[in-house]
This record gives sequence, C-alpha cells and structure tokens, in this order.
Amino acid sequence: MKIDPWSSTTYQDYSRLRDEFGIQEFSEDLWKKLPSPHKLLRRGIVFGHRGFDLISNAISNRKPWAILTGLMPSGKMHLGHKMVIDEVIYYQSIGADIFIAVADIEAFATRGYTLEETKELALNEYIPNYIALGLKPEGCRIYFQSRHQDVKDLAYILGKKVNWSQMVATYGFDNSANMTHIFSPLVQTGDILHVQLSKFGGVRPTLVPVGVDQDPHIRLSRDIAQAHRLYNVTVTKDQKIGVFVKVDKDVEKLLDKAEKILNSLNFNNLKRISEYKAIYIKDATEEDIENIDEHLCKSEFESGNYGFFQPSATFHRFITGLTGDKMSSSKPESAIFLTDSPKEAKKKIMHAKTGGAVTLEEQKKHGGNPSDCMIYELFLYHLIEDDKELEEIFKSCRSGQQMCGNCKKYAAELIEKLLQDIQNKRSLAEKKIKDYLM
Ligand code: TRP
Ligand code: SF4
Repeated sequence: MKIDPWSSTTYQDYSRLRDEFGIQEFSEDLWKKLPSPHKLLRRGIVFGHRGFDLISNAISNRKPWAILTGLMPSGKMHLGHKMVIDEVIYYQSIGADIFIAVADIEAFATRGYTLEETKELALNEYIPNYIALGLKPEGCRIYFQSRHQDVKDLAYILGKKVNWSQMVATYGFDNSANMTHIFSPLVQTGDILHVQLSKFGGVRPTLVPVGVDQDPHIRLSRDIAQAHRLYNVTVTKDQKIGVFVKVDKDVEKLLDKAEKILNSLNFNNLKRISEYKAIYIKDATEEDIENIDEHLCKSEFESGNYGFFQPSATFHRFITGLTGDKMSSSKPESAIFLTDSPKEAKKKIMHAKTGGAVTLEEQKKHGGNPSDCMIYELFLYHLIEDDKELEEIFKSCRSGQQMCGNCKKYAAELIEKLLQDIQNKRSLAEKKIKDYLM
C-alpha cells in the first residue's frame, strides 16, 4: 500500500492504514483532555496523529503553540475541504496561533492552474469561505506560497537533508515527473516549519491538521526537521535520560554548550561520556525531556542551525461523496459546495446514496444501515452538533423506525440553514480579507 497525495484514491480501512504507516490512534484519552472538544475529534473522524503529545502538553501547560495547514486553491470548496477549516477554527478558539497556506505553487505544479487563476480562486472562493465559517483575524495569517520568501527559502535550504531516493520511495516519482512537482513537497515542508522561525513566533509545537492523504508530506517534514538537529534528547535503553550530539564536528564544544544549558535549567548531576558524544542527566526524568529539548532547539538556531521541533499532525478520514465514492470538485453531483444554493444542495441530498433497504417493508423489518449512508455521514461530519441526537438517529435507523425519506428531508433542512448562514457571512467576508493576509 502507498499513500499518494495527488491521486484520487479513497481509503476504506483506516485502522489498517494507521497500523501500516505507524500513525498513532487519536484515542479518547487525547481528545478528552481538550477544552470542549470539537465533534470531528469526539466522533473518531480525526482518527490518527503523529506527535500530538507535544500539543496536549503545550495546551495543559499554557505554552504557545501553532497551527499550520494549507489548501490547494483548485476547483470550488466543498464539505470535504470545510473539515480542515472547522478544525482550525476550533484550535483557534482554544488559543493556537493560526497560519494557513494558499498552496498555489502546488496547484500550479500538480493541477495545471496558472498562479493568476489560483489567486482568483483563493480570494473569491476559499478565503471568503474560511471567514464565513468563523475564522478570526486575530493571531491568524493566510499567505500564498508563491509570495512567501521565507517559506521558499526554507524549501531550498532544508532540501539539503533529503535525497532523490527518499523522494522516489515516498512519492513514487519517475523520470517523467516535472521538477516543480518534485519540489512541491519541499515547499510544503517550508510551510510547515517556517512558523518556528523567530520572526513568526519561534520554536514551538506546531500541529498540522490534514486529511490522511497528506501523511507522506508529514513524514517528510518530520524527517527533515529531525535531520537538521544537532542534538537528540532521549531515554536510553537502560532508562537514563541523555543528550546526544548527532554530528561529528565540534563535538566537545557542543557538549560544553549543552552542559551549560542543562546547568541553567538546574540539572547538576551530569555525566559526560565523550566517546558516546553524550551527557547523561541523572537528575532528570522523562517529563523533563521536552523542556530540555526546547532549550537545545533555541541554542541551535542561535548558532545558525535549524533546531526545529518536529511538527505534529492529526489525520481525518475523508467524507464520502453523495454518490458513494469520493467527494470531488470534478464531480458536482458527489459534492455539496459551500456556494451551492439551498435548492441545489437539496436536490443532491434527495439523490444521495443511503443505507436504506430495498423496500420500505424490508427496512421496517430489518432496519437501515447508517454506517453505510451518505445522509448519516452528513449528520455525523457537519449537520448535527448534539451527540445524543445523533445517537437517536442511529438507533432509530437501525431499529427500522426511521425512514430514508424523512431523514433526507431533515438533512436538507439542516444543510439549507448551514449554507444560508455561510452565504450571508460570505458577502460580508469579502471586505475583510485584507485583515487576514500577510
Ligand atoms: N498539499 C495540501 C493539499 O493537497 C496543501 C498544503 C500545502 C498543505 N501546504 C500545506 C497542507 C501545509 C498542510 C500543511 O491540499
Ligand atoms: Fe440513512 Fe436515515 Fe436511511 Fe438510516 S434512515 S439509512 S440514516 S437515510
């Protein structure tokens, strides 16, 4: 199995995907610790993560952290795209700094848009929708990849620690791939890591909420962040906490520096073993690792290196299209666009694939199957806030009390409200765009 961020595959078995790629489960004990967790987190739609502990800790210790994500301005924005913005808005409400990339270089490289076209789409379609959905301008920056010098610089510079065979293994590039496409994952790494440069807030935990198709980019940017580090702090096999120098140049100097930093953090029971390029910290516990690492990261930047924290990520499932396969801009009947009129949306809902039985009698007798129903999915992902109400629908569907006709009508009513609300807010949003742009 391979995850291809530019293909149109749908994934069926998310837990297998998680196991195969070493994605951690986004379990109840993670989201339960968050303030008023969002429905996408509570309902298992965000099903996996890498390194979310850094984010949990930052939230509970009231330390700064950031969100960085991006969308390609290609086609019209639909309910599938809305999910990531819903997540961003939730994280903004609990205190994250927000950065959103308009992935115009990627859309140019992989989707055949001109930069002018992507600009139009971003300014007239995507960004007004983000604002209409509730994104606030305070502590939020939206930028275009093609116009962000620091992002592009990092793409060039950080690419030093990736070689061609890694790119081929990760993305399956062949000899016909164009160079801008090959380069676009590095631009995305630039997106993800630039928020830790001092002028954008400095070294801090960064969460990248994305669909699981983006995992290759996440792995790449985590690898790249790691590869540029001079130090590594870990628990050794014999349960000691150690700082290790990862490079071969200036080892003693780096150990001296680490020792100074550790002393300033009040760790005094240190044992340096130069031949292992290590300092063991006898008076530290596992809980201290993050704090130590943060100080080491900062000192790496001070000496002109790139001491980034590894970025964290969460992964959501994809919403199924109304037709039963992928929700895609290129198949309008599969998608509800945020600019659809309530009437259009209603029509699509009335034609949607449900988990209903072939006849009414059958359904009364054996119940419907909400787990394989596009209407239920709309409730689950977008239309019903209250978990109890959702559970009621699930149960009455399973028991054969709820019929698809009624269900669709209800979904149509709710989507009408949602779209109307977005539409009203979007007309005001257009004037506010400049408050969000870099
Ligand atoms: N590659 C993403 C997509 O296909 C867009 C993107 C660009 C992005 N930069 C990003 C996503 C940084 C997350 C983080 O939609
Ligand atoms: Fe889906 Fe509702 Fe029909 Fe159940 S009753 S299968 S939830 S549309």
